[in-house]
Amino acid sequence: METRVEQQRSRPGFRPFRHDGIAFGCDYNPEQWDPEVWSEDVRLMREAGVDLVAINIFGWSQVNPRKGDFEFGALDTVIGLLHDAGIRVNLGTATASPPPWLTARHPEILPVADDGTTRFPGGRQAWCPSSPVFRRYALELVEQVARRYGDHPAVALWHVSNELGCHNAHCHCAESTASFRRWLERRYGSVAELNRAWGTSFWSQRYDEWTEILTPLRTLSTRNPSQVLDFHRFSSDEMLDYYRAEAEVIRRHSEVAITTNFMVTAHIRTQDYFGWTPEVDLVANDHYLDHRLDDPTAELAFAADLTRGLAGGAPWLLMESSTGAVNWQPHNLAKAPGEMTRNAVQHLARGADGICFFQWRASAQGSEKFHSALLPHAGTDSGVWREVVALGGLLDRVGELAGTRVAADTALLFSWDAWWAFDADIRPSNSVSYLDQVHALHSALRAAGVTADVVHPADDLSKYRLVVVPGLYAVTDAAADALDAYVTAGGTVLVTCYSGIVDEHDRVRLGGYPGAYRDLVGARAEEFAPVLPGAALTLESGAAAGRWSERIRVTTAEVVDRFADGPSAGGPAITRNRRGAGTAWYLATLLGEESLLRLVERIADEAGVTRAEGASAEVEVVRRMSATHAYRFVINHGDIDLELPATGEELVTGASVAGRLAVPAGAVRIVREEAVA
Ligand code: GLA
Repeated sequence: METRVEQQRSRPGFRPFRHDGIAFGCDYNPEQWDPEVWSEDVRLMREAGVDLVAINIFGWSQVNPRKGDFEFGALDTVIGLLHDAGIRVNLGTATASPPPWLTARHPEILPVADDGTTRFPGGRQAWCPSSPVFRRYALELVEQVARRYGDHPAVALWHVSNELGCHNAHCHCAESTASFRRWLERRYGSVAELNRAWGTSFWSQRYDEWTEILTPLRTLSTRNPSQVLDFHRFSSDEMLDYYRAEAEVIRRHSEVAITTNFMVTAHIRTQDYFGWTPEVDLVANDHYLDHRLDDPTAELAFAADLTRGLAGGAPWLLMESSTGAVNWQPHNLAKAPGEMTRNAVQHLARGADGICFFQWRASAQGSEKFHSALLPHAGTDSGVWREVVALGGLLDRVGELAGTRVAADTALLFSWDAWWAFDADIRPSNSVSYLDQVHALHSALRAAGVTADVVHPADDLSKYRLVVVPGLYAVTDAAADALDAYVTAGGTVLVTCYSGIVDEHDRVRLGGYPGAYRDLVGARAEEFAPVLPGAALTLESGAAAGRWSERIRVTTAEVVDRFADGPSAGGPAITRNRRGAGTAWYLATLLGEESLLRLVERIADEAGVTRAEGASAEVEVVRRMSATHAYRFVINHGDIDLELPATGEELVTGASVAGRLAVPAGAVRIVREEAVA
């Protein structure tokens, strides 16, 4: 089977993104400023070392101010200024947000929420992904933009729309409903088959005709979970289809790579990006620290590893990030001095070949006027600007990293299907969620010095020593069989609770939990027994746990630890099963941070996984490899200076390192070492 990246590269019309060294870029919204400012912008971009600039993202009402009327004068000027300065352009198609003339003329393009009410213009992305009318106007604009700039020498990359599905992924209008029905018809062939897949015998939901089927609108009680799951899948496919339509138009006029900015992040889960990778020429992601999470920096590392997983290990582009505060969280925290650099280097360490920011110059008006930027309201006499210039210098000096690959001998399985299905309206415990488990396991690996590729459950796992399967609630038979074959052939897995519970239709796998992985782990749970948040749950070893337990009997596994208290007291909590030439561990609870770290360290060591020296929850250590060198990244997020054994050239300070590498508190270091075969 072709991998995602092989599918991407073999797709007719694939064009690689080419850039010398590591890109340093930003979104630029010159339409918000008087033309006198543009020359200063370009001069300062050069001063900072910016070399890739995304423009025309929200340009629709500027370049197409009324129906049939296209005005490209200002955009020509901006592209010319950038080009003259040697700055490459990441050119937006301008379709991200329709202008008022379009929504006024065609209100039927507006999205409808799950309570049947319309979402009006005045914000952004007020368009329905299934609307043929919106698509007709958008593609007409794309045609104009692509024809005009398709062979402009400044254009290095095409930026389709913007964060597709950020706000408008789920539309319930008549067009969307009709399109959902067509999608279901393709998937199931007959209403009878759909009834079977959705389990509609329950609550008298049996359908007789396609036309009776609705999108999952708001209901009095909980909705059919299989219907909701399929609507997630449909909505992702629908948006991808829209992306494809824009890309096809561009491809007719340009030989340059085409992409769009993904949102691999904790708070948006509308698109299954595994399906998107084959369609884009370059995987690009937007990432912002999310201070609603317990550990935003750890989540950044996870998102970067997942983005690399989407890209099949190939380099990817960080299309947006922030120098400081965002504007859309309840509390928008500034970054501490050095934090922006650490965040940027985290992405770099985990496979990014370019670091870009939203946005160039902080807006003076509009909803995002208090969002940080490369050039803050305070201007160039500011700490942010000085750190931006220093970062530009650093990215320039580490150009040799471009194209190198991250070294990882562990995989963590992730799936949007599992995320959508796990976090359904109803589940055994609302205080147990998919990302909680995924993040906890990824953080433990990171703290243990293990770099993990975050990959799809159906990906080839043969190169990994260890595979971690956190809360993979929904899994297909094929993926479950592949994991079994991986273990039988000698691999090690750690499966955690609420994995393998249902099939792709959200139908429970009968016979005991963890359903699909029961034989693999050699244990069988008869009942889930969650505990209330905050209730004590300990294991016999003394390990701290919480929120979840199961009533398990082992079949072929040995018991490694047992519940000491709680509803499953005396029963197994951690088990280990020899299976063929390999080993399958099962964790039937959520461990506290320290206990989970100890378990992961033990399993990694038994599996022979490489653990980076000096790594901890506060110190990230990751390697990128070229044919001749290893590049060791050390990112010290803590407030303690440290020293590690290392020998080579240090690229941040330019110093030679002979034996000991000093990494002051808050600093980053990148050591070029001789590669070990
Ligand atoms: C997203 C969008 C940008 C901007 C930033 C603000 O990433 O793509 O246009 O709104 O969020 O964080």
